[in-house]
Amino acid sequence: MNKIKLCVNVDHVATIREARKSTEPDPLEAARLAEKAGADGITIHLREDRRHIQDDDVRRIREAIKTPLNLEMAAVEEMIQIAIDTRPHQVSLVPEKRLEITTEGGLDACSNEQSLREARDRLIAHGIRFSLFLDPDPKQIESAALIGAHSVEINTGRYSDLVDPDELAVELEKIALAAKQAVKSGMNVFAGHGLNNQNVIAIAAIPEIEELNIGHYIVARSVFVGIETAVKDMLASIDKGIMLRRIMP
Ligand code: PXP
Repeated sequence: MNKIKLCVNVDHVATIREARKSTEPDPLEAARLAEKAGADGITIHLREDRRHIQDDDVRRIREAIKTPLNLEMAAVEEMIQIAIDTRPHQVSLVPEKRLEITTEGGLDACSNEQSLREARDRLIAHGIRFSLFLDPDPKQIESAALIGAHSVEINTGRYSDLVDPDELAVELEKIALAAKQAVKSGMNVFAGHGLNNQNVIAIAAIPEIEELNIGHYIVARSVFVGIETAVKDMLASIDKGIMLRRIMP
């Protein structure tokens, strides 16, 4: 594989808009510009507290973008109904806590196999692809396969927070092993959380990873360089990781 899809998460464009409960900046406009710069998909997280993306954004973005929409959401009835009504290309189930600043870890698929299987059945009955956001833990990946997920998104949040090189190497190895296990179990492998133009390179070098979801860093950089440059620079970093695939054993 010599391509990774970049799905740009535009949540934090909506975060700025919601700071003033205004109409600007519009996450749909950001999505359009991200596509123009080469993004392969758009990701949004409709949180239960609606702190950034609003219900109307989901509808508008779903209707207007040209690339696939990945809708992140909690596995709750309200969200499942919204997904069925708006039909994104894919739903990624994530854990959600009201007081967290951002998603803090992967979903506990092991303890929720039955309810996740029910959510999966309802969503795939409407032609929606089903993905689970998981920590790089073999037991969680095994459960995702038993649930019948099409894909797993491996949480790179811990990897992104680490600074000690030895700890980083251990976490990277966990991510690489989880990716291998998921592919062996017949699932597609995505990754995301906390990635930037530097730390994305080692993640993109993992051969099984097909897609990355990146938001905060791209939107933050957009303030200074514009979203098109921020997306293009991220794509260039991802390409560096793909080059490493060719020279690594
Ligand atoms: N993947 C998931 C499941 C997420 O919840 C988030 C944050 O919304 C991301 C990827 C993107 O993380 P970041 O904004 O740190 O790039």
